[in-house]
Amino acid sequence: MSTAEPQNSSHHDPSSRTKVTVPSIRHAKGQRSLVMVTAYDAAFARILDDAGVDILLVGDSLGMVVQGEATTLGVTVEQMIYHARAVARGTRFAHIVVDMPFLSYQVNVDEAVRNAGRMLSEGQAHAVKLEGGQPMVPTIERMVGVGIPVMGHLGLTPQSVHAMGGFKVQGREARDAERIVADARALEAAGVYALVLEGVPTTVAAAVREAVTVPTIGIGAGVACDGQVLVCYDLLGMLPGPSPRFVKRYDEFYERGVRATQQFVDEVRSGAFPSEAHSYGSGTKSS
Ligand code: KIV
Repeated sequence: MSTAEPQNSSHHDPSSRTKVTVPSIRHAKGQRSLVMVTAYDAAFARILDDAGVDILLVGDSLGMVVQGEATTLGVTVEQMIYHARAVARGTRFAHIVVDMPFLSYQVNVDEAVRNAGRMLSEGQAHAVKLEGGQPMVPTIERMVGVGIPVMGHLGLTPQSVHAMGGFKVQGREARDAERIVADARALEAAGVYALVLEGVPTTVAAAVREAVTVPTIGIGAGVACDGQVLVCYDLLGMLPGPSPRFVKRYDEFYERGVRATQQFVDEVRSGAFPSEAHSYGSGTKSS
C-alpha cells in the first residue's frame, strides 16, 4: 500500500469529502484500502456515510438480518429497490451498490439487464453486484455494455448455499482455488469494476488480488484484499452473539438497545416518563 494521500483522507470532515464513484474505486487499488459496509435504510446509511465509509452495499443479506430468514434466497427485486431508495435518501458521499437477488439475473440476460437497470433507475443505486464466475460473463458484458456498473462476488456465494452444503469457506482445495482465480480473471475481462471475495483462505485472496487489476473487497478473506466489507448488523453488534470468526464487533448495539429499552419500560411503569420536559403542558403557546 503506498503512502499516497487518500481521496477521502479527512473523512470525518464533510467539507473535504467528494462523492465516491466507479472510477475512484478502480483508482483506489494500490493507493488506499476501500471500506464497504451493508446498509438497508436511510438512518443506517446516514451513520455509515457520516463515518466515512466508501461504499454502501444494499446486500441481499437483508433477507437474513432484517427479515430474519435462514438464507438470502427469498429476497425479491421489489424489496431490493425499496431498501436501495431508502439508503440513497440517507447518503451524501458513498457509492451505493445493490445486490441482484436470487433468480433476478440467472434466468436470461434480457431479464437480468432489465432488473439491474431498475436498481439504478428506481432504486437510485450506482451499481449492482451479482454472484458467480464464468457462467455470468455474458450477463455482465451486456450490463456493462449498457452502462450498468457491475461488482462481482466470488468464493462463498450465499445464493448457492444449498449447492455448497452450507455457508462454508471455499477454495481450500488447490483445484477450487484455481477455479476462483480463473473466475476472477473472467469477470475482470467481462468488465466488473470491483470484486467481493467472501469466505476464502487468505492465500486464495492474495492470488486473486495479484491476478486482477480491479480492487478486491474481502469478507472472511483475510488481509490480502484491496478493501474490506462487513454487514452493518455484525459490525455494530446488532444481533445477540456469538458472531462468526470473520466478524469483529465494534459495538454491542443489541445489549445497549435492550438496556435502553428496559429503562424506558421501567420509567413508563413507574410514571417517570413522560416528565414535564417531554410534555406540552396546558398552555396554548407551546410548539
Ligand atoms: O449481501 C451481503 O451482505 C453481501 C456481503 C456479505 C458481501 O453480499
